[in-house]
Amino acid sequence: MAFPSAWLDELLHKNDIVSVVSNYVELKPKGRKLWACCPLHGEKTPSFSVSPDKQLFYCFGCHAGGTVIQFVMDMERLTFYEAVQQLAARAGMELPNEINDRDLQKQRARRKRLTEANRDAARYFCACFTDPKIGRDAQQYAANRGLNPEIVTRFGIGYAPDSWDSLKTHLLGMGYTETELVDAGLLVKNAERGSVYDAFRGRLIFPILGVTGQVLGFGARVMGDEKPKYINTGDTPVYNKRNNLYGLNLHKNEKLDDLIMVEGYMDVIGLFKAGVKNAVASLGTALTQQQARLLKRYVEKVYIAYDGDAAGQNATVRGLDILKNEGLEVRVITFPDDLDPDEYVQVYGKEGFDRLKENALSLNAFKLEAMAKNYDLSDENAREQYAKAACAFVAGLQPIEQERYYRLIAKKTGYALEALEAQGVRSGGLAPDRGAPPIRGGFRRRAENGEDPRDVTERTLLLACLHDGEALNLTKEKPAKELFHNPVFLALFEALCAQGTAFSLAKYVGELPEKEAETASSLLREEDVTENTLRAASDCIKRLERENDADEIARLQAELKRTDLTAEERDAALKEITKRIRANK
Ligand code: UTP
Ligand code: MN
Repeated sequence: MAFPSAWLDELLHKNDIVSVVSNYVELKPKGRKLWACCPLHGEKTPSFSVSPDKQLFYCFGCHAGGTVIQFVMDMERLTFYEAVQQLAARAGMELPNEINDRDLQKQRARRKRLTEANRDAARYFCACFTDPKIGRDAQQYAANRGLNPEIVTRFGIGYAPDSWDSLKTHLLGMGYTETELVDAGLLVKNAERGSVYDAFRGRLIFPILGVTGQVLGFGARVMGDEKPKYINTGDTPVYNKRNNLYGLNLHKNEKLDDLIMVEGYMDVIGLFKAGVKNAVASLGTALTQQQARLLKRYVEKVYIAYDGDAAGQNATVRGLDILKNEGLEVRVITFPDDLDPDEYVQVYGKEGFDRLKENALSLNAFKLEAMAKNYDLSDENAREQYAKAACAFVAGLQPIEQERYYRLIAKKTGYALEALEAQGVRSGGLAPDRGAPPIRGGFRRRAENGEDPRDVTERTLLLACLHDGEALNLTKEKPAKELFHNPVFLALFEALCAQGTAFSLAKYVGELPEKEAETASSLLREEDVTENTLRAASDCIKRLERENDADEIARLQAELKRTDLTAEERDAALKEITKRIRANK
């Protein structure tokens, strides 16, 4: 959905940046700005500034900056759309698409009702757990599993009494309707008999919280050996397990180095108790792209720490590429003896876990290891086959990376390094890891944060144009299509050229469809960047032109490999290549 610009104006007007920021830090006036220690990164002396005149913030320490919308995005780890929604709610504004849409209004009201019912259910479960009589068995079970009172409180662990209707009676008494409670997944309706009863009975309760702190659903564990071990809230209007990660809500305002992906509730909790506080769980399902995106809002690096059993290892292989494709750096922690993370830390403690983490395998090393499991390496023939397959895999990697993996294979198989490298060269074209297509212009690697380096350059150029008329004029001299390959940036640049000084980035971004707004909103981040923009623009233009040349050269070189070229065509291609190579010297 795109936001009309008048509506966005009103939103910005009604959400004064000073008052929004003041909810998080105390601002102190100095000069024309207000100052505080940056709430987005840890620091002791204030380098975070808010300009009430411009309605912008900027941190000289971590270089975050932008409008109030960007501030909420950074602070609450929200997307542009979520941040706008939150600010609209704060200002009591209806979302533009809802103003005349009764259905949407109803849906929103209903979702709110369901999360309230969930919150009240969570409170009820906690009260039952704490109750000396009702909660006695649950307390005993929790204690046996090492869940101390501090952990119980922190994770909101509760108990659903062994009864068909205790929650039902409680929540109906609070004014919720049976339909609402069935929709929230708290009650179950028996289709044949039409009876309606509590969904969770006689189980330990783990509430599942969303990143905004709302209770979205529950996991419920039996306190014995019955099956199924866990019952979880299914799909409801407020919860879809594919879009959530258990435990992520604990890290909203923290700066994290990395997150650790585990499978289950008890893994998150067990690690937390041992002092490893940054684990989140995919809750037994295969990792989804939505979850990977969610992780990306928090960190650049993710450790997969799935169970040591075969199911866990297979899930790891699948999860790896999903994370990698979202631009996350991935490492794999493997546990010995089929242990899961919870069991492992109980035996080896945080120190043991940290050691495993230090020795975590890179994505490719893990794939090589996983591949080795398919061969009996004590058998000479199987060893040779593994070496061949592994070399073909390594041949598909970046040249710089190859050496250490050849070493790894050498160590595993006993073949000499030279032989393996030669084998790799021979099988060069057959690398099995060719699944993911290269990003435009195959030689380019993704930047650390997963962004295409070309995008980074285009964005820097655009920023310079936004802030400096001279930089804009310089850029205008070149054909825009050759500089901006990212269609979002190209359109933005063209709008900027057309509107000149009347151009408002915040408004422009607000009017874009969701996906494009995500790309363009990265520009809002750097609103205050002013240093030597003209020089930056000229550097960027040079770099982009050089890349264009490199692309063209690659294309021509491929062309030359064709056998059906005439002598003239071949000559022309060679001349063109030479020209472009010279231009870039
Ligand atoms: P595990 O069987 O590894 O459970 O399943 P666990 O987390 O180690 O739990 P404990 O230690 O035995 O209590 C991992 C996850 O898979 C989902 C749950 O989300 C669980 O945390 N699961 C498992 C289910 O949803 N239902 C089940 O019956 C079993
Ligand atoms: Mn377990």
